[in-house]
Amino acid sequence: MTTFPIYLAGEFCTTAQSLAVISPYSGQCVYQTYSAGIAEFEIAVQAAQAVQAELAVMPVYQRYQILQNIAAGILAQREAFALIMAREAAKPYTTALAEVERAAQTFLIAAEEAKRLPGEVLSIDWHVSAANKQAIVKYFPVGLVAGISPFNFPLNLVAHKLAPAIAAGCPMVLKPASKTPISALLLAKVIAEAGLPGGALSVLPMDRQVGNLLVTDSRFNLLSFTGSPDIGWQMKRDAGKKKVVLELGGNAALLVDQDADLERVTSKAVIGAFAFAGQSCIHTQRIYVEAGLYPAFIELFCQKLARLKIGDPELAETEFSTMIDEANARRIEHWVDEAVADGARLLAGGQRQGALYSPTVLTNTRQTMKVCNLEAFAPIVVIEAYTDFKQAVTTINDSSFGLQAGLFSFDSRKINYAFQHLHVGGLIVNDVPTFRADHMPYGGVKDSGLGREGPKYAIFDMLEPKLLVTDHSNDG
Ligand code: SIN
Repeated sequence: MTTFPIYLAGEFCTTAQSLAVISPYSGQCVYQTYSAGIAEFEIAVQAAQAVQAELAVMPVYQRYQILQNIAAGILAQREAFALIMAREAAKPYTTALAEVERAAQTFLIAAEEAKRLPGEVLSIDWHVSAANKQAIVKYFPVGLVAGISPFNFPLNLVAHKLAPAIAAGCPMVLKPASKTPISALLLAKVIAEAGLPGGALSVLPMDRQVGNLLVTDSRFNLLSFTGSPDIGWQMKRDAGKKKVVLELGGNAALLVDQDADLERVTSKAVIGAFAFAGQSCIHTQRIYVEAGLYPAFIELFCQKLARLKIGDPELAETEFSTMIDEANARRIEHWVDEAVADGARLLAGGQRQGALYSPTVLTNTRQTMKVCNLEAFAPIVVIEAYTDFKQAVTTINDSSFGLQAGLFSFDSRKINYAFQHLHVGGLIVNDVPTFRADHMPYGGVKDSGLGREGPKYAIFDMLEPKLLVTDHSNDG
């Protein structure tokens, strides 16, 4: 079994507290690493403060080169990264490889965006009081950034925190998810060789108590958190004066209009519902199908679901494997059983074996059931028929979440209506809500979060505008 040291202020080291990483698939300990305590946290923060001024004036061509080097370093080890994700997260190997490509792309996008940091020549003489004055707005790094990343994309969601921080010139202390810290620690090895000054980054697995210092410590200027809604909003309450960016959950819905091509839609919808066992914030959890298409949709969807290859995440052919742990599989089993007891009909799945929960389809649900109105983060999907398009949009909005929605339609009036009326951060037309390109603005409204990911938008959050006004009255 391989042991990975933690990355503390530019150095790899161990601590007194070892941390075992358990494969959700085999239940075996697959890696060993360490938890940082308060002493390591303090070293990380002081090193970050010490390097802050150097990073702030680092020329863009250097930031660009570092980000390019990281992308190349990730791709050079694509199989190693994918295997780690298969082991620590039970992410099927082929799905994990796709995540590795995305993570490299995230760093490349940030490299490009580093060349386009915002700035403005401001026309300020709009009133006689400002006659003869000129103004510019320049953007400066916000300062120390705290990052907390989740288990479900253990590489790319770390990339979405680190890459913009490097582009913006901010040092970062990052806490990867305790169940999946190894992808982030291998990434730290790549970054250590990419030219970033020591101290600009620490990657520290930590327990909740120490990790909470990332939220409460006033030396941080920004907290970027991806994770569950309850925890995220509590962090915002505890964060004091620092900026907070939250990428939280959802119960994403897909609307399938009467002109949809069922062959294509059902293939996409099976992936949206069951990729990585539904453990994505934009997992397709609710599908509303025009009533005339509903019977054929259900039949095709269930046929395709039955062909999913379920098994060992390390095998390239596996498409579906275990959830992150048995506790979560038990949770979703309970939600489904409760829905069925309350009148929902099970069309597929509904079985649990340890941490494996079978791909599950429910119908005849009500919006008040947990499987509809909470974030499942599990391989379940609810499929219902609708007769009135506008009513279906209202049903989708009847949720405390609003991350992304999908719509299959070729009717521009319906597309415009949905775009205007859906309360979400993004509408994906003719694809599932699970679609994400790494440069797009990604985030939600309502309980789904605050701010947007995607390097361009995250960089903007990591900068502060500063105004320079110059009076030229006496210039002659
Ligand atoms: C998430 O779960 O929020 C990330 C989804 C993705 O990047 O595809």
